[in-house]
Order: sequence, then structure tokens, then C-alpha cells
Amino acid sequence: MYDLLKGKKGIIFGALNDRSIAWKVAQRAHAEGARLVLTNTPVSLRLGQLQALAEECSAKIVAADATSMDDLNALVEQSLEHFGGKIDFVLHSIGMSPNVRKSIPYEDINYAFMQKTIDISALSFHKMMNVLYNKDAMACGGSIVALTYIAGERAFPGYSDMADAKAMLESVARGFGLKFGRKCGVRVNTVSQSPTLTTAGEGIAGMSDMYRYADKFSPLGNASAEDCADYVVTLFSDLTRKVTMQNLYHDGGFSATGLTEEVLEAFSRGL
Ligand SMILES: NC(=O)c1ccc[n+]([C@@H]2O[C@H](COP(=O)([O-])OP(=O)(O)OC[C@H]3O[C@@H](n4cnc5c(N)ncnc54)[C@H](O)[C@@H]3O)[C@@H](O)[C@H]2O)c1
Repeated sequence: MYDLLKGKKGIIFGALNDRSIAWKVAQRAHAEGARLVLTNTPVSLRLGQLQALAEECSAKIVAADATSMDDLNALVEQSLEHFGGKIDFVLHSIGMSPNVRKSIPYEDINYAFMQKTIDISALSFHKMMNVLYNKDAMACGGSIVALTYIAGERAFPGYSDMADAKAMLESVARGFGLKFGRKCGVRVNTVSQSPTLTTAGEGIAGMSDMYRYADKFSPLGNASAEDCADYVVTLFSDLTRKVTMQNLYHDGGFSATGLTEEVLEAFSRGL
């Protein structure tokens, strides 16, 4: 460990269970010396295992539905009070699509569900930053990170309206990055992570094949949730103070690959 986050204070959204990417980020941030507030929906707090993580990381838990401005206002106020000062970093690790959950095909999408997908998976990022910005809650040089997937930029089967939500999430990072940068050097970035076997990940149709394909298509292989936590911690640290408004690929090289020999061989064997 490097004490990269020594003395820093952060809010982590979206740890549900020990497979969640946010769970790994919380563990890694704690190990690097950070103090944490962990948050998730009241239902997730009842069904998930957040209490165990909070004990492990000596963190405070605050329930909040990230689509509710009231909940977000209360969360930020309680966090400022708990920390006795401003917030250095925030992780948005939230995604949910009722269309994906119910396996509704993209071409026949349910629009009420789609609004929910966008609200939970993208607007929540805007709402969260709206509250942080208007309460002047971020410390100078702070860092805000949201997790995304390459389907926000390129078409992938099975990702459905989550792709639309991710495209919006990435755009919101740029929009708020412009504002936050001038407000005392706060950074806003998205991290585009490899397919990862988590509760949300496994909800995507064909995930296990996608996971294996991406692994063969990435020169470094898929990045795990633990690898992602390592990367996110660098973005929270002072070592990346001039990186903002970027969609940063953390995918073992998948996004820059045209073809790999392994995929070509597997394809020719299958024909
Ligand atoms: N798993 C993957 O393959 C993968 C790949 C790239 C990016 N991501 C992204 O990583 C992030 C974390 O997902 P994960 O894979 O760790 O799965 P996960 O299921 O462990 O986490 C998703 C979290 O979103 C929370 N959530 C849902 N609705 C919410 C709401 N209204 N308010 C607050 N929280 C809410 C859930 O409670 C859960 O904790 C998501 O943004 C996801 O899209 C995942």
C-alpha cells in the first residue's frame, strides 16, 4: 500500500455485495488511508451485505436512493458533518435497467422502464453532482468517478437501454467536468471497465459468453473488479490532478484491439 489517500474522505455509491466493483474500491480506498461513507438504496441495505463492509472499513452507512434529490441532499449533508469537512472523492457505481432485467428486446423496449433506466443509471450522476456542486461540498482538487461500459460508445447485443444510459453518463461527466474544473480543480471522469461478473453484470443477456470473448479479445485479458479498484484509487489520488472529462478505458486493451489471433483461431475452428 502507498498511503495514496491518506487523510482523504470519500463517498462510495453502489456496493451491494462482495462482488460489487464499489465494494472492492471501498476496500482499496480504506487500505490507502481514506475515511469513507458508504451508500446504497434502503432495499439494497436490507438485502445486501453493506454492514460487513462498513465494519471492515470503519465507514458510516447512509441510505439513499440516488434518483431522489431529497436523499442526495441528506446524504451529502450527513457526510460533511461526519467528516467534519469537505469531500475529496466520490464513486458513482450504479446501474439498473428494468428492460434488461425482464429481457425485453431493444426494438420493443418499454419506455416507462427506459425512463427508469436513464434516471437510475445516468441522471443520478447529474443529480449527485448537482447536490455536491450547489452545496460546495467538494474539496479543492477533489475527484469524482463513475463507472461505465464500452456499449455506451459502440453497439453490443444484450446491453439494450443501458447503452443509452451509459452514453448519457459519459456526456454528463464532460458537462459537469467543465463546471467543476473551474470550481477549485475538481476532476470528473468515467472509467470504462471490462465485463465483470457481478450482480448487475450477470443481468446482461449472454454475459458469460461476452465475458469470455472480451477476455480473448483483450491483450491483457479482462480487468477484474480488484484491478478496477486499483485504477480508481489512482484517480482519487493527487497523482492524477490534471485528468478530467475523460472516458478512461480500463479493459485490458479491448477498446483499441481490431482482432486477436485467439479470436481468429476460435472462429476458424468453429466454421
Ligand atoms: N459488471 C460489469 O460487467 C460492468 C462493466 C462495466 C461497467 N459496470 C458498471 O459498474 C457499476 C457497478 O456495477 P457492478 O457491476 O458492481 O454491479 P452491482 O450490482 O454490484 O452494483 C450496482 C449497484 O447499483 C445500485 N443501485 C441500483 N439502483 C440504485 C438507486 N436507485 N440508487 C442507488 N443505488 C442504486 C445497486 O444497489 C447496486 O449496489 C455500474 O455502473 C455498472 O454499469 C459494470
